[in-house]
Amino acid sequence: MPDNEPRGTSQRLDDLEQRRGEAVSRADEVAAAKQHPKGKYTARERIELLVDEDSFVEVGEFTLQRATAFDAGAERCYGDGVVTGYATVDGRRICLFSHDFTTYGGSMGEAFGEKVLKIMDMATKAGCPVVGINDSGGARIQEGVVSLAYYAELSRRNSRASGVVPQISVVMGPCAGGAVYTPALTDFTVMVDRTSRMFVTGPDVVRSVTGENISAEELGGAEVNGSVSGNAHYVASDEVDALDWVRTLLAFLPANNLAVAPEYPALEPAASAAELDTVVPDSPNQSYDMRRVLAAVLDDGELLEVHASFAPNVLCGFGRLRGRTVGVVANQPLRQSGIMDIDASEKAARFVRFCDAFNIALLTFVDVPGYLPGGEQEQRGIIRRGAKLLYAYSEATVPKVTVVTRKAYGGGYAVMGSKHLGADVNLAWPTAEIAVMGAEGAVELLHRAELAEAETNGVRASVRAKLIAEYRATMTTPYVAAERGYVDSVIRPSLTRARVSDALLMLEAKREDSPPKKHSTMPL
Ligand code: HXC
Repeated sequence: MPDNEPRGTSQRLDDLEQRRGEAVSRADEVAAAKQHPKGKYTARERIELLVDEDSFVEVGEFTLQRATAFDAGAERCYGDGVVTGYATVDGRRICLFSHDFTTYGGSMGEAFGEKVLKIMDMATKAGCPVVGINDSGGARIQEGVVSLAYYAELSRRNSRASGVVPQISVVMGPCAGGAVYTPALTDFTVMVDRTSRMFVTGPDVVRSVTGENISAEELGGAEVNGSVSGNAHYVASDEVDALDWVRTLLAFLPANNLAVAPEYPALEPAASAAELDTVVPDSPNQSYDMRRVLAAVLDDGELLEVHASFAPNVLCGFGRLRGRTVGVVANQPLRQSGIMDIDASEKAARFVRFCDAFNIALLTFVDVPGYLPGGEQEQRGIIRRGAKLLYAYSEATVPKVTVVTRKAYGGGYAVMGSKHLGADVNLAWPTAEIAVMGAEGAVELLHRAELAEAETNGVRASVRAKLIAEYRATMTTPYVAAERGYVDSVIRPSLTRARVSDALLMLEAKREDSPPKKHSTMPL
């Protein structure tokens, strides 16, 4: 039909279906044939796995690839290597994009970039979380500086959206070059064991530039990013597990910084409250699993851990108390006695800042022997990097409730949600030991001469034991801190859930203003 002749409605609908077919179906079959043998789903299959059935509305399906350099004569493709749109998860709106690795390796071209920016802007304006599914070779080599420009634009969008809407990245294949910085700027990054890789430069470039021979897995595999670099907050066993985790995470979060997290029916904890009365061992040198405490405090005992295999000496995660989301930060005595080091400080600081930005109350459990001493930590910057947690707690204006279960020594006492950093309600168990340092170390320092004399008389052990008992009875009991109001109450451990819930209820409408400023210069 000549272009200038009017066309009927049915002709237009046929035309639409033909275009949609070209844009979607054929490319999908090709994509599936390339992705499935690698144990990977296609961009669209991943979306289907993430969102509520039939809820996905595609935006920009007819966007046509712009540049054709190096591919003269090749057909320009619809979509340009990324699927974008909005959908619901458990009935709640999200915006999303999903890279198509089978089109130019999921690399960022001009039309690709425009689509992702559009969806980011939509999420920020609509106030809904944005989920990015990444599977990309980075900047599209054929599109040169245009591609670089879009990465910078995207970083700007991520930064502007930070603290406004939750941003979640899922890495489901290679994520190279510029593609790594979006996950780094978002709030949570999920990787998949064996198939995900995240690195600024791949092994070939590393070899040619530095001569270092390193495999892709060692350089940027999920394991390395999950437990060593800390770039990944969750390492999933496969793609389905990764998207399940994202759905679970979304259920804990508000849609934006002006909203509150969804409320669920209250559930009983998984363990009985009475168990808390016996959880702390008699010997201060014996460890216990802080998860046992959380199991008897949180609804259903559920904790969605974030960064579980990175700095496991501190636990961070989301749970619910009487149906409402809380952010939990807890020392883990089972790992390195729960000591604070650089990684633990940074992990907890980031988590605290996220909770504060999104109106999620903070619940802190303390059993910490202090900061890890030593040359390695000092040289790597424990001072400035450890300060981040002091900063994060001080800055946070959401309700903050802290429970000291056992040790709260030295800097560890101060930093772990102490009253002095602005915690609203501080509770301690009778087993709490709050002091500059543990009794053993303190006695060695304070009674050097007396112990030397006892050594000469062959009674060092008994004198030392007596001095330690005296120190414990007078210096480390929680009542010393309670007398000064640093601890609001010393409670039976079995009452913890009730007391913490009451405190959070009391603090429900908490308001606390920060002094006006452009922005902070937080330690980096
Ligand atoms: C265009 C790309 C591409 C890219 C991959 N492809 N990366 N096309 N631009 N950046 C294409 C390949 O040519 C190939 O096309 C298809 O995608 C699949 O790639 P393979 O190499 O066969 O896949 P695989 O073996 O799985 O390796 C994946 C990879 C590797 C690790 C991502 O492709 C790779 O190293 N790519 C280059 C990564 C990179 O250096 N990117 C630029 C970084 S600079 P055919 O047609 O053969 O199927 C950057 C700076 C941004 O991003 C800074 C912003 C601030």
